[in-house]
Amino acid sequence: MFSMPKFSTLVAISCLSLAVIPIARSAVINVTVGGTGVIAYTPNQVTANVGDVIQFVFKQKNHTITRSTLASPCSPLVGAGAFDSGFVPVDAAATDNFRLAQLTVEDTNPIWIYCRQAGHCAQGMVFAVNPGDKFAAFQAAATGSASASAAPSATVAPTASAPSSAAPSTTAISNDHLVIVGGTAGNIYTPSNITAQPGDTVTFQFHQKNHTVTASSFQDPCRALSLTSTSGQLGFDSGFMAVSPNATDFPTYTIQINDTQPIWAYCRQAGHCGTGMVFSVNAVESGPNNFAAFQAKAIQLNGTAAATSASPSGTGTPSNDSNGAILPGRSAAAMMALLGAVVGSMVL
Ligand SMILES: *[C@@H]1O[C@H](CO)[C@@H](O)[C@H](O)[C@H]1NC(C)=O
Ligand SMILES: *[C@@H]1O[C@H](CO)[C@@H](O)[C@H](O)[C@H]1NC(C)=O
Ligand SMILES: *[C@@H]1O[C@H](CO)[C@@H](O)[C@H](O)[C@H]1NC(C)=O
Ligand SMILES: *[C@@H]1O[C@H](CO)[C@@H](O)[C@H](O)[C@H]1NC(C)=O
Ligand SMILES: *[C@@H]1O[C@H](CO)[C@@H](O)[C@H](O)[C@H]1NC(C)=O
Ligand SMILES: *[C@@H]1O[C@H](CO)[C@@H](O)[C@H](O)[C@H]1NC(C)=O
Ligand SMILES: *[C@@H]1O[C@H](CO)[C@@H](O)[C@H](O)[C@H]1NC(C)=O
Ligand SMILES: *[C@@H]1O[C@H](CO)[C@@H](O)[C@H](O)[C@H]1NC(C)=O
Repeated sequence: MFSMPKFSTLVAISCLSLAVIPIARSAVINVTVGGTGVIAYTPNQVTANVGDVIQFVFKQKNHTITRSTLASPCSPLVGAGAFDSGFVPVDAAATDNFRLAQLTVEDTNPIWIYCRQAGHCAQGMVFAVNPGDKFAAFQAAATGSASASAAPSATVAPTASAPSSAAPSTTAISNDHLVIVGGTAGNIYTPSNITAQPGDTVTFQFHQKNHTVTASSFQDPCRALSLTSTSGQLGFDSGFMAVSPNATDFPTYTIQINDTQPIWAYCRQAGHCGTGMVFSVNAVESGPNNFAAFQAKAIQLNGTAAATSASPSGTGTPSNDSNGAILPGRSAAAMMALLGAVVGSMVL
């Protein structure tokens, strides 16, 4: 990772996954959010390369970083690719320990951002990554000072237009949860269990070596759910994602969370599940079917070899592309690791 000792200690626990992943040759671009008497992002636009990290530093007073679109600068993007930091209030007297959020640039398409605080977007508090020559039009549309001719420029498709099925017709903010698969942390998902809301997405970013994320069941942690079943729960499978030791570009696979039911998953690589490389979303931690129990079962069964109980709807090993769902770099066009804003370990 980029060397930033003070930063690392602040996020030592919450950001373990990022702290151990080298981000080779990527630049870190600081952007100040707000500040005393400043209702703006400074700078308000940046040109970034793939792999660069935009580091937002939240200063006074109480702002957000919320993804929108060129067409609707002051409305949150809903569905795949959406992110929102939530409100980050900063004391007027604060001079240090500002909370940070990081956005990893996954492609060169524009990323449009605004502050959700009442009135701020209309005052022009917007930000863009790689806007090309469209920033002025974006900001003008935000402040309502767009000329009549500026509006039609919104016919330019926003980069990460969500699949229509992904967007519930609600104004709820959805978040993308970033999960690192493998890498220097070893055969593990980092984090390996998360809580997510319907409408959220989970983006798996595959680091070294050669892993999958594949849906299974609590009863049979290391056996894939069917991808084609017409009855029972439908599975998903990223396919094998082989990543070379010096790769700097990491493939991704994104799933959509549709309800609050637990989702169980594992790595199909030989031997990995049996050593505990499993993952869950919305496991009920207070009940018996919690993440720890799921992982213990995977280890106890030592992978599929020992699993004798029938899979609820599984029909063996799926092929890596049969669900057509490998989406390199889609919702990952913008992946946000929210440090503090979401995980809450930062100190103001
Ligand atoms: C970016 O911000 C961090 C945190 O405030 C600071 O430690 C670092 O020196 C800044 N980097 C640059 C290049 O300004
Ligand atoms: C920050 O702003 C939000 C939205 O206006 C508000 O709900 C929240 O109470 C504010 N927080 C603080 C500490 O002022
Ligand atoms: C993950 O599982 C552990 C152990 O069961 C639990 O303590 C923790 O709260 C879980 N984390 C999340 C985000 O659910
Ligand atoms: C990744 O693992 C799978 C399953 O073991 C294997 O078939 C495939 O050849 C591996 N890919 C690479 C590039 O090593
Ligand atoms: C990785 O880097 C080493 C030297 O640093 C080089 O010899 C090797 O060819 C590289 N491998 C790939 C797959 O790029
Ligand atoms: C959520 O619903 C979408 C659309 O029906 C589907 O493609 C996706 O696989 C579902 N997500 C999960 C985790 O089952
Ligand atoms: C677990 O499975 C692996 C192969 O996946 C095998 O090499 C190992 O011996 C097994 N361990 C036990 C205790 O059966
Ligand atoms: C994954 O799918 C691709 C495209 O069908 C295929 O070429 C490749 O061999 C598959 N890899 C594995 C490990 O199944």
